[in-house]
Amino acid sequence: MRAGDLEGVAGLPFFKNREIVMSLDNQTHIVTGAASGIGHAIATQLIAEGAKVLGVDTDEVGLERLSGRTDRLVTLTGDVSQEETVERVVSLALERFGGIDGIVCNAGIMKRVPVGSLDLEDWQRVMDVNLTQSFLFAKHGEKALRASRGAMLLISSTRAFMSEANTESYSATKGGLFALAHSLAVSLSPEVRVNAIAPGWINVSGEELRPEDHAQHLVGRVGLPADIGQAAAFLLDGEKAGFITGQTLVVDGGMTRKMIYQE
Ligand SMILES: NC(=O)c1ccc[n+]([C@@H]2O[C@H](COP(=O)([O-])OP(=O)(O)OC[C@H]3O[C@@H](n4cnc5c(N)ncnc54)[C@H](O)[C@@H]3O)[C@@H](O)[C@H]2O)c1
Repeated sequence: MRAGDLEGVAGLPFFKNREIVMSLDNQTHIVTGAASGIGHAIATQLIAEGAKVLGVDTDEVGLERLSGRTDRLVTLTGDVSQEETVERVVSLALERFGGIDGIVCNAGIMKRVPVGSLDLEDWQRVMDVNLTQSFLFAKHGEKALRASRGAMLLISSTRAFMSEANTESYSATKGGLFALAHSLAVSLSPEVRVNAIAPGWINVSGEELRPEDHAQHLVGRVGLPADIGQAAAFLLDGEKAGFITGQTLVVDGGMTRKMIYQE
């Protein structure tokens, strides 16, 4: 289609919608688990693209380290598996920013325990932090997100689709987030887009890895937190990703696309 051809279709819904979507400039986003790793990278990327961020984490010291570097970040220390924390986060975002354009449910924990010795309490804790968190943010953030025509982003994992032994609780929550993303996308439409990212191996510790660790990825390297930060900013930006909802974007350097045969 040539530029001139667009004039005839300017009244179609696509073009009407384009008038109401915004870039990240002056937007406000909530990021959970913002004190370290992937959440830190997402918060940093959103701020770099013009947004203000409310970062939430249980790690008060980590949050202080982050907030010392920018005045575009407000922080709140709390456990996002608790409904009162989530209500407090949403209220603070509305009070400080006047609205919410995006919510990134990133905070997560993993327990590697053989299923026969996994306590119900530990199973439940992983469910509450990794999965229930996103339900609570949808519940309490819906009104604000509908008003801003905003977006939710859930951080799943490639472990939603494949597993190592003794990771049942973690994998179940990440598979749950895959389903929750499309379920919420239907329920909150048309105002709110809801997507998930399924990261592969992301080196959040910065430790030196072996050549074979990098080589098992099609792109020849293990992932960096910034790889997820950039994908997150793209999916939250209604200008760029306004036609994407209910999806889980796998960001894994191709690791889960590689067949494994014994040589
Ligand atoms: N690193 C990877 O390879 C990888 C791969 C796939 C998915 N993920 C997912 O990405 C997300 C971030 O992981 P990461 O690797 O950056 O881990 P991380 O441990 O470096 O960061 C997680 C952050 O969440 C915070 N947190 C944990 N429980 C919390 C709670 N109840 N309330 C508030 N904050 C809480 C922690 O304090 C920490 O700052 C997680 O959901 C994880 O499952 C990571």
